[in-house]
Amino acid sequence: MGESIAELSRTHHCGELSLANIDESVVLMGWVQRRRDHGGVIFIDLRDRSGLVQVVFNPDIDEESFVRADSLRSEYVIAVEGKVEKRPEGNVNPELATGEIEVRGVKLHILDEAKTPPFHISDEIDVNEDLRLKYRYLDLRRPRMQRIMELRHKVMKATRDYLSEEGFWEIETPILTKSTPEGARDYLVPSRVNPGCFYALPQSPQLFKQLLMASGMERYFQIARCFRDEDLRANRQPEFTQIDIEMSFVSEKDIFRVVDGLMRRIFGLRGIEIPEEIPVMTYREAMDKYGSDKPDLRFGMELKDISGIVKDSEFKVFSNTVSNGGLVKGINFKGGADSPRSKIDGYTDYVKIFKAKGLAWMALKEDGLKSPLAKFLSEAEIEGIKEAMGAENGDLLLLVADKPAVVADSLGNLRLKIAREEGLIPENKYEFLWVTDFPLLEYDEEEGRYVAKHHPFTSPLAEDIPLLETEPEKVRSRAYDLVLNGEELGGGSIRINNRELQQKVFKALNIDEAEAEEKFGFLLEAFEYGTPPHGGIAFGLDRLMMILSGADSIRDVIAFPKTQKATSPMTKAPSKVSEKQLRELNIRVDL
Ligand code: AMO
Ligand code: AMP
Repeated sequence: MGESIAELSRTHHCGELSLANIDESVVLMGWVQRRRDHGGVIFIDLRDRSGLVQVVFNPDIDEESFVRADSLRSEYVIAVEGKVEKRPEGNVNPELATGEIEVRGVKLHILDEAKTPPFHISDEIDVNEDLRLKYRYLDLRRPRMQRIMELRHKVMKATRDYLSEEGFWEIETPILTKSTPEGARDYLVPSRVNPGCFYALPQSPQLFKQLLMASGMERYFQIARCFRDEDLRANRQPEFTQIDIEMSFVSEKDIFRVVDGLMRRIFGLRGIEIPEEIPVMTYREAMDKYGSDKPDLRFGMELKDISGIVKDSEFKVFSNTVSNGGLVKGINFKGGADSPRSKIDGYTDYVKIFKAKGLAWMALKEDGLKSPLAKFLSEAEIEGIKEAMGAENGDLLLLVADKPAVVADSLGNLRLKIAREEGLIPENKYEFLWVTDFPLLEYDEEEGRYVAKHHPFTSPLAEDIPLLETEPEKVRSRAYDLVLNGEELGGGSIRINNRELQQKVFKALNIDEAEAEEKFGFLLEAFEYGTPPHGGIAFGLDRLMMILSGADSIRDVIAFPKTQKATSPMTKAPSKVSEKQLRELNIRVDL
């Protein structure tokens, strides 16, 4: 049984002791990281969330304490009364923040004993993630995880401080609610008192934050939990956290300025500088130059259009593609001319994943051009391509001819692959970018209709409204994303606050009045009572934390995350429930 510490008060944290504390009497509490016995003298590495300090117990202290010291094992929880001393010359440990001092233990209390943990509590563990998640409370004892949780707390606090200073109010919105328009599958919760009816967990607070604007709150934020039942790729979780923002009487630039300041405050926590105004690029330009709506600007290798140069080429793959309305574009892998054939074949296989039919290449070697196309291209075409792509001797040009979307997707991804493999991405560089003017709609092949690219309340650009009825795919929206190093950190839009325009957009989306009424009737009705122009944005806090902490899994920045299969190895959720619970809910499980 552990001792009571009613009489004892902790005076310091382990990691904060230094030469400044010499000769002070201290009371420390924490976990035993390690116990060593050096010829009757017992050394303990004592750990708390601030770090480690060495405690030394000599046999000349009171016998009870010494016997206890001798019995200590890893992860025992103890309280130590002692005195801070300078370590003898030669015993200084430069690896340890507290390495110049040690604590001479005078009294020892064991607060709790511990079984041998399934893995050692240290940053250098090599165990599978399932075991880490099963014993998450032990995993979270590791210094790295504690630093991440501390940083996450600081990010949330900085967010609250900054947005409060900017006049935002933090307002909570319901978790038991109705389907929200983010387009993923809902998590449903059965209602016992309303048999056969279900709540949906919010995919985001979208409808409520717009209602709060109709309510005159003017500036809202929330650090909000969101729930989406979707395929869990590396940077997704079924429940995740958004920094959610909505503002009234604003346009894009007002929102950008607030967010630029928020990012400056958050990244400032790690000493990372961000420009006063984050640069802006349209969706069109991002797709043209980088083949992606979330371009990674840490390196160049832009896509160059050579359609005009090869439109009459003898190489029919090129000329036919151009005459059929397609594009021929390429990227320049600087210094790649001597890549072995197997590497280029690998690139060809890679672009096929993105539906490209092939990959043409031109290696500008010291002894002349090497390319399967050489015999089809005229001297003028070759010179034109080289000039358009800024090519010099030693470069490898990689070209794709296809529909614009396939060209963008295949070259955009190849650009990233080469940059990663060739180490072209500088570390410790943070390239933020606003991407604007997204298409309002996209065609959903599966559903055979247009769906909202962002959500149905996103406002079209005023000048494109007439196109809604004629060429809906050409309508641009007032939606924007904040991109960092090729990751979408957040997205939002200026909303529609006018019933007539909302009806037009619903029509383009093939949402009829009955469906609109059933799904969002309460919001549409609210809009009839005087709604200010408004807009907002939401950031994935977990993704932001990943980048800020350098974690490579979203699970490492969440205290109790789910696996790729949406389970918790620790709580064993989700799990079966009793017959009685099911009966109360009028639910029968049919498996
Ligand atoms: P959106 O759906 O783009 O917008 O989501 C905003 C941000 O949330 C993060 N995110 C996720 N993070 C982890 N796991 C997930 N499954 C997941 N899904 C999304 C991303 C994304 O950029 N209501 C709108 C915002 C608005 O219009 O104001 C919305 O939710 O970082
Ligand atoms: P082929 O005419 O199919 O033998 O292809 C000749 C070269 O052109 C090969 O290197 C192919 O990978 C490449 N190629 C074929 N189709 C395309 C395309 N749509 N875009 C770019 N290169 C292509």
